[in-house]
Amino acid sequence: MPVTQPRITGVGSHLPPALVTNEELCGTFNRWARGEDPDAPESSPAFIDQVSGIRARHFWDASGILDLSRMAPRIPDRADEELSVQAELGLAAARKAIADAGVDPTEIDLVIVGASSLQRPYPSIAIEIQAALGARGFAFDCSVGCSSGAYAMQLANDAIAMGRARSALVCVPELPSAYANFRDRDSHFILGDAGAAVVIEAADAARAPGGLAILDASLVSRYSNNVRNNCGFLNRCDEARRDAADKLFYQEGRRVFRDIVKLVPSVIEEQLDRHRLTPSDVTRFWLHQANARLNGAIGERLVGPRAADKFPMVLETTANTAAAGALLALDTHRELAPGQIGVLCAFGAGYTVGSLLLQAL
Ligand SMILES: CC(C)(COP(=O)(O)OP(=O)(O)OC[C@H]1O[C@@H](n2cnc3c(N)ncnc32)[C@H](O)[C@@H]1OP(=O)(O)O)[C@@H](O)C(=O)NCCC(=O)NCCS
Repeated sequence: MPVTQPRITGVGSHLPPALVTNEELCGTFNRWARGEDPDAPESSPAFIDQVSGIRARHFWDASGILDLSRMAPRIPDRADEELSVQAELGLAAARKAIADAGVDPTEIDLVIVGASSLQRPYPSIAIEIQAALGARGFAFDCSVGCSSGAYAMQLANDAIAMGRARSALVCVPELPSAYANFRDRDSHFILGDAGAAVVIEAADAARAPGGLAILDASLVSRYSNNVRNNCGFLNRCDEARRDAADKLFYQEGRRVFRDIVKLVPSVIEEQLDRHRLTPSDVTRFWLHQANARLNGAIGERLVGPRAADKFPMVLETTANTAAAGALLALDTHRELAPGQIGVLCAFGAGYTVGSLLLQAL
């Protein structure tokens, strides 16, 4: 039996300033592809917009990605004494969420970083952020693809409900440009960088009135190789394959689309059903931001056509920011009147789905 009802009291996000359009990205790709093979098919900005809804994306470093001789971000190594890159991105979002919640960072007693990739195995990025904020308690990282943020929110929710923490920070610092393959025509346009964060508190700890009560969380995983990245600590043990393309993001996009468009509505419908609700009772669905057509198809299955305003999209200028996407949508379109219901649903590699049923207070 939960000891206390957790609620989201603060939300924040941060986009790195460099914005790269489809035209710029395709310009570099096409020059590179023609250099490899004069007959290579081009990557087209119009195709990208049409199949995904993406027109631009933010990068931590755009110059290295657009540099033909490199086509990867330039992110210099930092000394151990300096703040790490992923912690810096996480902190930028965290400070906004903390200000939004009106909490003092020293009152936070749990920090969870949820991200699709982590800069290092240890010390945890979350512990570095905890120290930089002067937060108390305990901190750890969790990684389950694009659902990492939603899974982390559920862990924070459980810790608060059981009295293990009172004020939790969930931080989602995503730098997928570092694992994107900018020489792969099928996927070079998909990913963008962003940080997002939420503060989740016990009801009696919250300073500000309002917020979003977490009524329920549904976590589902189903093994699939259709979205994969083989970057890991064993890579150095096989010199011949250490830098192979499978050590970056790759996917069977069409299969992912087909599987996810069935899986996500079924998870959300079961969750709503447990609370005697239907999709038409939901005012906002903040979905993972991978593809506008995909979210449109999920929306159509849930509530029928012409309900786009229930499914806010941000990916036109952010692309797929991995686990940050659903939280960017929440941060940008969070207006709910007291009592209204929202669903925050992240999904992605694994496959994984993390769906949180929320009610505005
Ligand atoms: C990736 C995705 C946008 C691709 O869209 P798609 O409609 O499936 O496109 P396909 O990859 O099947 O390619 C269709 C055609 O466009 C071509 N094409 C591929 N990339 C292209 C590009 N950059 N420019 C122009 N044409 C391109 C292909 O060669 C193919 O041509 P063909 O029909 O002559 O063979 C889409 O599949 C998707 O978003 N899937 C879901 C991914 C997802 O949610 N992942 C979660 C990750 S967390």
